Amino acid sequence: EIAADTIPSAFPQTESERVAASTRRLMLAFLITGFCALLVGATIGPLQALNYGGVDAYPALRPLLQSYYQGLTIHGVMNGYVFTFFVTCGLLVYLPARELGVTPNLTMWRACFAIMAVGALCVLYAMGDNSSSVLWTFYPPLKGSPFFYIGITLLALGSTMPLSILLQMRATWRRHRPGEITPLVTYMSLTTMLMWGLAGVGVVAELVLQLDPWSLGLISTVDPIINRTLFWLTGHPIVYFWLMPAYVSWYGLLSRQVGGKLVSDPMARITFALLMIFSLPVGTHHQFSDPGFSSIWRGILVVLTMSVATPSLVTAFTIGLSLEYAGRLRGGQGWFGWFRALPWSDPSVAGQILAAITFILGGATGIVNGSWQLNAIVHNTTFIPGHFHVTVGSVTAMTFMAITFWMVPHLTGRQLISRRLALFSVWVWFVGMTIFAIGMTWAGLYGVPRRAWVSALPHGTYHALYGAASVPLALVAIGGVLLWVASYSFFAVFFGTLLFGRRAAPPPIPFAQSFGGPASSTIDSPPNPARSASPLIRALDHIWLLTGVTALATIAAYIPILWPFLHHVTRAPGWILW
Ligand code: HEM
Ligand code: CU
Repeated sequence: EIAADTIPSAFPQTESERVAASTRRLMLAFLITGFCALLVGATIGPLQALNYGGVDAYPALRPLLQSYYQGLTIHGVMNGYVFTFFVTCGLLVYLPARELGVTPNLTMWRACFAIMAVGALCVLYAMGDNSSSVLWTFYPPLKGSPFFYIGITLLALGSTMPLSILLQMRATWRRHRPGEITPLVTYMSLTTMLMWGLAGVGVVAELVLQLDPWSLGLISTVDPIINRTLFWLTGHPIVYFWLMPAYVSWYGLLSRQVGGKLVSDPMARITFALLMIFSLPVGTHHQFSDPGFSSIWRGILVVLTMSVATPSLVTAFTIGLSLEYAGRLRGGQGWFGWFRALPWSDPSVAGQILAAITFILGGATGIVNGSWQLNAIVHNTTFIPGHFHVTVGSVTAMTFMAITFWMVPHLTGRQLISRRLALFSVWVWFVGMTIFAIGMTWAGLYGVPRRAWVSALPHGTYHALYGAASVPLALVAIGGVLLWVASYSFFAVFFGTLLFGRRAAPPPIPFAQSFGGPASSTIDSPPNPARSASPLIRALDHIWLLTGVTALATIAAYIPILWPFLHHVTRAPGWILW
């Protein structure tokens, strides 16, 4: 059972009130910073959509943006790294802290915020002065300024710091409750952060050993293929670092928000354990078109990649069934009645369910990308950004937006200024992103290249090259304009609530109860011995074993690929193409 939160007081009285108030303020700081990044990214995104529709807005933006590629770098970095990292590093500390009833190490959490903030400012500076239009993948030999690489290094390092905070909190909790099973939200957060801590090794090695010293002039050449391989060692798992926090909300909170229960606690745990193990070894599936490693390995990678689709399918079924359970409790009948009976008028619920629906298109297109032969057809076309805007661009972005609809009131004691505008924003995002993604994937099948300033071509050339794809490209532009409407409606609600929301009792965190798992247990609730849990749940609670298995599988998958690269080093000088 959850105690109702008290109204946050402007003048906390006791020590524990003071700590609780600092924890809330820090969570709010992560949230606001993350969404400020999205505000920048979502302002630029539609310009890119218009570009594909043949509308070149960039000459008019000259003093602000020198080129399409400068804007695209800012879009990818602000949305893909800054927005997601800040929100996740807030949520995955705050939710477990409240679930366990333990205070997080606030010094460490502040340091995490500060390091990422300095990193974000460095990267913003480097992108702003047009020195680093290297896109969010910063593939060498494209060469940006040291501020860019050092900023990314700080962002990456800072984003792994919640791992140690979580481990500390779990240790404190265990001292009070020896021999018990880790509560679900903490378990999901911990496996996410362990996965990310391991994954980070790739990009941190790339930056610290190669790109940082290179940009500082300490070394004069770098090896592009080794760096791409290190990048994707982190770059594939990052897609799970984007998705898993959204799954934490779907499994851990949504079933409560819709008035039911999570139908299977063990399924949630299996999903997170499998995501952790399978995420890391498959990073080189982003390199199907790169030379230099054997076709046997490419085949094995396809199989491994399809296995990482399994936990996401399990999620679809478990979340689907939890929603059905709640819908039937609410009186919904027949095949689809339960779906209509869900509380659609709650913008937080609507946002998350709509996010989950877009994931059907995201998962299906992901399977195309992950299949070697089909990948050759879609490689470097608009199909790829079409795919990941219905994963990170909607599953993550919409779930995070939906979370703010209860969390901002929860943290600030202010009511949403308009539930209707909140609902409108997520519906328009859903419709806009779906139209956009259909347009992008469809245009990709005509071979329209991604990362191309096609609108700057002479009019006749644009039509000669892409006229056949004019219908899908029009959809891209229409989707983009709808997304402007959606994001500004959302930001009106978000900032409006922070500034002008009426004072009201803050809602509690909607932690879900579940079937088949240990009862929820803060440090001061009645004991709940592990032997009551199933053997499976007990086995999955050995997080260090999972970590070891993941590390071994990763090393086994990477040695045969990296080995030949390390024996045929190429030395490329930097390129500055902008
Ligand atoms: C790339 C539009 C939101 C992450 C793109 C591209 C377009 C676009 C058209 C492809 C550009 C190209 O390949 O030349 C939009 C629109 C958005 C939006 C209209 C609505 C607000 C988001 C969100 C995220 C995101 C929410 C992530 C949280 C990215 C990334 C890239 C990208 C990582 C790749 C950049 C690159 O290729 O270097 N976006 N986007 N976008 N977008 Fe978005
Ligand atoms: Cu991948």
